[in-house]
Amino acid sequence: MTDKSPNAPAAPIALYTPEIRGNEWKYVKECLDTAWVSSVGAFVDRFEHMLAERMGVHHAVAVTSGTAALHTALNLMGVTQDDEVLVSTLTFIASANAVRYCGAWPVFIDAEPNHWQMDPQRVEEFLTRRCERRGDGVYNRRTGRRVRALLPVHMLGHPVDMDPILEIAKRFELRVIEDAAEGLGVQYKGRSVGGLGDVGCISFNGNKLITTGGGGAVLTNDPELARRARYLTTQAKDDPLEFVHGEVGYNYRLTNLQAAMGCGQLECVDEFIAAKRDIAEVYRERLRDVPGVTFFTPSPQAQCTYWMNTLRIQPAEYGKTSRQLMKELQARGVQTRPLWQPMHLSPAHRGCESVLTGVADQLYSQCLTVPSSVGLRREEAEFVCEAIASLASPSSFCRNYREAG
Ligand SMILES: Cc1ncc(COP(=O)(O)O)c(C=O)c1O
Repeated sequence: MTDKSPNAPAAPIALYTPEIRGNEWKYVKECLDTAWVSSVGAFVDRFEHMLAERMGVHHAVAVTSGTAALHTALNLMGVTQDDEVLVSTLTFIASANAVRYCGAWPVFIDAEPNHWQMDPQRVEEFLTRRCERRGDGVYNRRTGRRVRALLPVHMLGHPVDMDPILEIAKRFELRVIEDAAEGLGVQYKGRSVGGLGDVGCISFNGNKLITTGGGGAVLTNDPELARRARYLTTQAKDDPLEFVHGEVGYNYRLTNLQAAMGCGQLECVDEFIAAKRDIAEVYRERLRDVPGVTFFTPSPQAQCTYWMNTLRIQPAEYGKTSRQLMKELQARGVQTRPLWQPMHLSPAHRGCESVLTGVADQLYSQCLTVPSSVGLRREEAEFVCEAIASLASPSSFCRNYREAG
């Protein structure tokens, strides 16, 4: 890091580092000592049971990543070649990529402005204005493709408003796949996200609330879907001895080694959530009076985890853009990052249809995610807040703005 300010902390403050403070070492050592390291073992079963209980579902199927969980879930829902799936545009690219892995097409739905989640009104608008019912389902009039499913993404530790999404899905006979990759611990009306639709997906990537290094899970209440998820993710093996495979499956199962780490992590999840909420409180309290800095407003129906704390910087009031602030914080030893490029702007998904209001575009240009590790110390969060407050310069922005304009 160059151009370090004299106020920089002794060590840079990372955006996110995993927290390993429980039985992870002990459980992983048990795997190494017994050589149960691969894709079956007692820890896989234990992790799946713990996870299902925590998420309030009957079944959790542990897989290699959140992306693999999404791909499997879409398969389970019968999403196939040239179907369409309505996906939040403001998401990490995995949600949209998984649709393409099935040969289907995402239709991107904008966010609502208060909580920054998929806007149910835009979902309804697409289905009523741009689609028509035919014998066996709902079809996009322009593309002629069948709309098969909705894929809302619970973003940043806040839930999507699921009641209208589920009502619309019922009315139009669509399946609901929840991307709850960031949603462990998040509740909507007292119920865990990931267990509200037909099938849910979660991620244990290194920056998630708990991690297995890399990993994910498919969540469902339906025993037949759970059985099929296990089948598809273990190469669709029909005969344990004779290498008979009934269809093209995937090598997507989580290893015992990773599940061992997951058990250790999951034992600490309540402490982790409490830490996240404390960090969010520091950011929200300390930055409350800084002009031009806001956050999403938590819905009264939500119990948030504040997985990542993301600030919205209004340049006219703050005096700088989010990207200028990002560079200046970097010089002070604080790592931040922008929000994901919305999927309707992604070159990887060029040409896909979308329903837009401009909210995601604005959030993309204005948002900045700040350090949010479970182990972030209060003094570190306060240092970040002081840096953000001291870098505000509303008058200079107005001057530059006038001069430029
Ligand atoms: C919203 C969302 N969906 C999907 C994923 C993909 O999960 P993974 O990285 O475990 O494949 C992630 C994060 O990585 C995510 O944040």
